[in-house]
Amino acid sequence: MKGVVLAGGAGTRLKPLTDYTNKHLLPVYDKAMIYYPLWTLEKIGVREALIVTEERWIDDFKQTLASFRPKLNLSITLAIQTGPGGIVDALIQSEKFAAGAPLAVALGDNLFENPPQKAANDFRSNPNGANVFLTEVHNPEDFGVAVMKDGAIQSIIEKPETPPSNLAVTGLYFFDTTVFERIKELKPSVRGELEITDLNNLYLQDGRLTAHQIEGWWCDCGTFDSLVRASALLAGHQLETVK
Ligand code: DAU
Repeated sequence: MKGVVLAGGAGTRLKPLTDYTNKHLLPVYDKAMIYYPLWTLEKIGVREALIVTEERWIDDFKQTLASFRPKLNLSITLAIQTGPGGIVDALIQSEKFAAGAPLAVALGDNLFENPPQKAANDFRSNPNGANVFLTEVHNPEDFGVAVMKDGAIQSIIEKPETPPSNLAVTGLYFFDTTVFERIKELKPSVRGELEITDLNNLYLQDGRLTAHQIEGWWCDCGTFDSLVRASALLAGHQLETVK
C-alpha cells in the first residue's frame, strides 16, 4: 500500500498566515504540521509516500522535508495540485504515483495519537473496497459525520447542520485500486468541489466501505483553536478546556 498526503487547499480558516505560507508548514508543537500525517503513514507500514500541494509551495516543502527525511522510514515525493479544487481533485494528482497500488490517503492537517496499524495490516492483506476511521467529537457539524444504524455505517453527511451522530469521519482513508474509476462517477458539490464524502458514499452504496473507530485522540488543525489543541495534545497536556 502506498501513501498520499493531501496538502493543498487555501487554508482559508488560517488566514492571514496562509497568504504567505502553506497551512501544512505551520508549526504544531515542535514540528511543521506535515510531519504528522507522514508519521501516521509510516506507523501503518507505508514506505512510499506522495505529498500533493500547490506549485508555489514546492521549494518550501523541499526545505522542510530535508529535516524530516532522516527521522522517517519513508521515501517521499511531491506532486502539484494547480489550485484549491477540493480534496478529491488533489487525490486525482496521485494516480500516476499509485500505479495500480492500493492507497492510504491522509489529509495533511490531521493528527492521530494511535494510527490504525491493525486495520492497515488487514487492508494490506486484502485490499478491497475502502476504509474510513471514526471518532467521537463534540462538534460533529464541522466534519463528515457517520449515520449509524445497529452499529453499522449507513452513509456519511458532510458538515450536517443537524448531525445524525457525534461520530466524525477522520482524514485517513484506505482505497482499493478502483478508486480512480469511481472518482470519474463523481459530480461537483454545491461548493464546486469533488467531495471525499461523496467518494466514500459511492463505496458504501456498493457495500464496500468498512468503518473503524479509532483509539486515542484525533485532531484536525484547520482552525486557530484546533492548532492550539493539537499542540497541547502533543505536549502531553489534557487540555479539555481548549476547544
Ligand atoms: O478533518 C476531517 C475532515 O476533513 C472530514 O471530516 C471531512 O469529511 C472532510 O471533507 C475534510 O473537511 P475539512 O473542511 O476539514 O477539509 P479541508 O478543506 O480543511 O481540507 C482538508 C485537507 O485536504 C487540507 O488540509 C489539505 C487537503 N486539501 C484540501 C483542499 C480543499 C487539498 O490538498 N486540496 C484542496 O483543494
